[in-house]
Amino acid sequence: MSRFVIEGGNRLEGELKIPGAKNAVLPILAATILNRGTSIIKNCPVLEDVKTMQEILTSLGLRVERDGQSIIVDGKNLTSNAVPEFLAGKMRSSIVLMGSVLGRIGEIYISYPGGCSIGPRPIDMHLSSLRKMGAEIDDLYKGILHCRVKKFQGTEILLDYPSVGATENIMLAACLAEGKTVIRNAAKEPEIVDLQNFLQALGVEIHGAGTGVIHINGCEKIEKDVTYSVIPDRIVAGTYMACVAATGGELVLTGVDYEHVSSVAYLLRNCGVSVELFNDRNIKIKSDQRLKAIELIRTSPYPGFPTDMQPQFVALLSKASGTSVVIETVFENRYGYVEQLMRMGADITVRERVAVIKGVKRLTGAYLDASDLRGGAALTIAALSAEGTSIINNVIHIDRGYEAFEKNLSMVGAKIRRE
Ligand code: EPZ
Repeated sequence: MSRFVIEGGNRLEGELKIPGAKNAVLPILAATILNRGTSIIKNCPVLEDVKTMQEILTSLGLRVERDGQSIIVDGKNLTSNAVPEFLAGKMRSSIVLMGSVLGRIGEIYISYPGGCSIGPRPIDMHLSSLRKMGAEIDDLYKGILHCRVKKFQGTEILLDYPSVGATENIMLAACLAEGKTVIRNAAKEPEIVDLQNFLQALGVEIHGAGTGVIHINGCEKIEKDVTYSVIPDRIVAGTYMACVAATGGELVLTGVDYEHVSSVAYLLRNCGVSVELFNDRNIKIKSDQRLKAIELIRTSPYPGFPTDMQPQFVALLSKASGTSVVIETVFENRYGYVEQLMRMGADITVRERVAVIKGVKRLTGAYLDASDLRGGAALTIAALSAEGTSIINNVIHIDRGYEAFEKNLSMVGAKIRRE
């Protein structure tokens, strides 16, 4: 079990390169299952969840290899239809394997997915959509699902909510379906666009990702050697932006898609932080650490303010002057980390989905526990800007989404080490 030891109070100065997006790589790796040729996926971060997805592909019979930041998947032989329970249960993304494995071989045994503890995360939209496309899905015992389909049938699907995972699952299922599929009220996240771009590279006729309506024309077979590079991680970029906002200093982030982090940049500017785009893919963040409260932040699907940045903002607003209000509209229970911030002296009240943050003058180092990925990032931000030393246990949660987090932060001046 690793932990971070952080001595707070050091400004961040320097430059960091933003790696590929975890939440884009995972569905793209699931999509490689559709391809009987070789997929070379570049810009894959070295993360626990990515490793788990690689292991799942291997367990299904595919040949998978990592070469630096690239993952190479030889899709010739898909020999198993059973996703090992201990792997599927590790992360949420395993659920999108249903669309691709069913599409390719018509049968899958898979358990309910795992992932961060941020409230109940039902899969009803995934199941009802795949059923609408012709899948028969039975609940076996102990949460194992058995799904079968002769061939998916293209159809129109109206999602009750623009779920990221459900949109991805339907996109994957639709590629080898009979006829045309239309997804309405589809998620518009950049990761959905990235999945579409990869599917297009495989020769699939798909368009509309990034808008609320996606059209996919099913095809008979996909067999193509393809090389594809994943988009930069907007949440990792946003997290480093929040780090320097909280500690003060001047940080340059390279390889960023500004459009993807524009809601974060907008709110940071409202707090009094300078965010500047230069040379197209680089941003410079400057903060004197004197942050102003934000009257109201409401998380919402893209292009709104991302729920995956909510904890990091609560952490930095806990030292802003004035009172901020945050409303979490996406997940039911994403304030698990708040209790830990309060140990550091933060003044935060949570009632259901609303957090009221009264800015305090200082946070003090404390003994902390990371209970989920972005909550863990929030604790790191608070610890970097606190007086004294903090210890964050269970950094395994942070490792799921941030490659070499402590190394990168040390490189730009933070006093942080792993034990
Ligand atoms: C993706 O989760 C991301 N995960 C999450 O990132 C992110 O927070 C989320 O999208 C929203 O942007 C990955 O891409 C691997 P949803 P996903 O389906 O697909 C409800 C992180 O920190 N819902 O859009 O699971 C659901 O409970 C993670 O990197 C249903 O009710 O998100 C939630 O309230 C955490 N039924 C809402 O929709 C369903 O069938 C949004 O979930 C599906 C979802």
